[in-house]
Amino acid sequence: MLSTKIAGIGYYVPEKVITNFDLMEMMDTSNEWIIERTGIEERHYVSEGEGTSDLGAAAARKAIEMAGIATEEIDFIICATISSDYFFPGSAFQIQDKLGLNGIGAFDIRVACSGFIYGLSIADQFIKTGQYKNILLVGGEVQSNAMNFSTEGRDMSVLFGDGAGAVILQPCAGESKIFSSHLHADGKYSQALWAEVPACNLKPHISHELLDQGRQYPHMNGREVFRHAIVRFPQVINEALDANNLTKADISLIIPHQANLRITQAVAKRLDLTMDVVYSNIHKYGNTTAASIPIAMCEALAEGKFKRGDNLILASFGAGFSWGAIALRY
Ligand code: COA
Repeated sequence: MLSTKIAGIGYYVPEKVITNFDLMEMMDTSNEWIIERTGIEERHYVSEGEGTSDLGAAAARKAIEMAGIATEEIDFIICATISSDYFFPGSAFQIQDKLGLNGIGAFDIRVACSGFIYGLSIADQFIKTGQYKNILLVGGEVQSNAMNFSTEGRDMSVLFGDGAGAVILQPCAGESKIFSSHLHADGKYSQALWAEVPACNLKPHISHELLDQGRQYPHMNGREVFRHAIVRFPQVINEALDANNLTKADISLIIPHQANLRITQAVAKRLDLTMDVVYSNIHKYGNTTAASIPIAMCEALAEGKFKRGDNLILASFGAGFSWGAIALRY
């Protein structure tokens, strides 16, 4: 049986940096509140006209370069995003076009903060069965265009940022491999973290009245999200360890979805781990949803936090609710 290797990885964030002080000009918030509750100091926002597919294609080019393959060798594209350039079709199609890969299969998955974990699991199945040999998986988001920057929307808007990360996945008979993936969801909590509009169960999907009511903005029950996240993250990380007869000591680094520093710290505490083995870079990027894990992987690798042959656990929790983990040897 073939296994799946991460052959290349790259990320791209837009140039514009927005600090907490910039947000203070738009809404009633403070640098202290944001840092204390979330750990976020700044995040990157797109410029006008820049979309998820632009960020995704830029991240993809870096991953392709690191993998040392020709772009034309990519035979399938998956894009994890909840902020595709258009309502439909998904961003995978525009990424494909921007890379000049017209003709190969491509699709989006909308699993929010767990999108990259779900995408990696899907790609792993395609590689293991021998169907594809160079899959491009992108996690990309433009969240800044979706937010309510008035004081009413401050609980959400201070948290999120824009960016993209990408990996090239290849079959491998050697040491590097994805060991297992563990995917979960509980749709009972769909409305605890959601954007309702445009809503295909409403006719029309969008109207002046709906917009006036602010129903196009994402909404969240922050306390409910927090309460579930700090239970589900450790649970699914332990599930991934147990499934592979691994102990925490076998793992070089846990890379969680960057939801909120307080969540990451609570998860580390519940797992009885110090923060040097649970990676965080949220202070620079905020929560970039499906992009956060591959961006964090890139930075952790560049910082020497892990190397080829090391065991990693990637884990996520987010809208759906959805949560998951991947155990792998890099
Ligand atoms: N700046 C200043 N004050 C803010 C604020 C902001 N950006 N956002 C909310 N507040 C205010 C609230 O209005 C509230 O004021 P009130 O007491 O006068 O009503 C006060 O801060 C406390 O709000 P509360 O929601 O109780 O804060 P909290 O301690 O629960 O922290 C979160 C809020 C969002 C930081 C926290 O719930 C959280 O981390 N949730 C998880 C969110 C997350 O990670 N989501 C992404 C998952 S993928």
